[in-house]
Amino acid sequence: MKFNVVCRTLRLAASITIGIAAPGTGEAHGSRMTDARVLDGTKIANEIKAEVAAEVELLAGQGIRPGLAAVLVGNVPASQIYVRSKVKTCAELGLFSELITPPDTVTTEEMLELVASLNAREDIDGILIQLPLPPQVNAKLLLEAVNPAKDVDGFHPVNVGKVQSGQPALAPCTPAGMIQILKRSGLPIAGQNAVVIGRSDIVGKPIAMLLLQENATVTICHSKTHNLAGHARGADILVAAIGRAGFVTPDMVKPGATILDVGINRITEHEEFDKFFAGDVRREELFLLKGSTLIGDVHPAAYAVSGAYTPVPGGVGPLTIAMLMSNTVRAAKLRRGLPV
Ligand code: GUN
Repeated sequence: MKFNVVCRTLRLAASITIGIAAPGTGEAHGSRMTDARVLDGTKIANEIKAEVAAEVELLAGQGIRPGLAAVLVGNVPASQIYVRSKVKTCAELGLFSELITPPDTVTTEEMLELVASLNAREDIDGILIQLPLPPQVNAKLLLEAVNPAKDVDGFHPVNVGKVQSGQPALAPCTPAGMIQILKRSGLPIAGQNAVVIGRSDIVGKPIAMLLLQENATVTICHSKTHNLAGHARGADILVAAIGRAGFVTPDMVKPGATILDVGINRITEHEEFDKFFAGDVRREELFLLKGSTLIGDVHPAAYAVSGAYTPVPGGVGPLTIAMLMSNTVRAAKLRRGLPV
């Protein structure tokens, strides 16, 4: 079966801007003044993308151009936005990319055929299958069919196992980006109590494993955890990855803790807006204009208790694409036996 393919063979000049860090105040992301440091994910993602662009340039000198196949099934609006942004970033950094858009009626067999063809292609180093997939597609079977060497999402059991045993691997992008935020911000990980709220395969479990690799003492909390707030209060590094707006409240945060907020939740009701952002005049103006605002899994009032936090938007989110680019270059090098 043939699917729509959009080729991006044009190489665009890498145009990476390095952002200036906001001063250490939470004012830009809420009305409350706080001494907590804002961890600027956009700035860190731009640094990583600039490094990737430089590597791509070096590889070009050896006749190698890393390539990403992005598979977007159906018409899920959020997935369309994410995948287009991934393809656009490939072009900005000089990577080859191809967008493949099967219809939402596609079968597991057709998707397996597609994956087999991408596994066999020399010009494709990374295969990204955007999730979620329609219910008739067996996602588990499909993700396991991706050649682990091209699994730039780090979802294949071989890569999951390698991450767990500390071997060189392709690690999932969002968790790998969160480690970069901590390291590049000079925040300690070794010996810290890290508490991860959420146990998804995409974020919760892999970030717990990566933090453990960095010698943190890790606790994973989930919907069945007793005294979740008590666990959270013991965290030096608190990861919120539950997918519930403003779930982490100030009483759940140890003073001075680092908060990594993975949630991206859209609020459309004014009552809910007031619950989280009452008094934030600037945000309310924008909310009324657009009819919605974004909030993470952390209540904005909790920022003031923390020592450092990732805002939403502009915190963890930008790292996902940066690390996907980095993983694609890494896969291209590993496949060719080049040092990474
Ligand atoms: N859907 C939401 N996040 C991701 C991601 O990191 N990778 C893929 N493939 N799908 C997603």
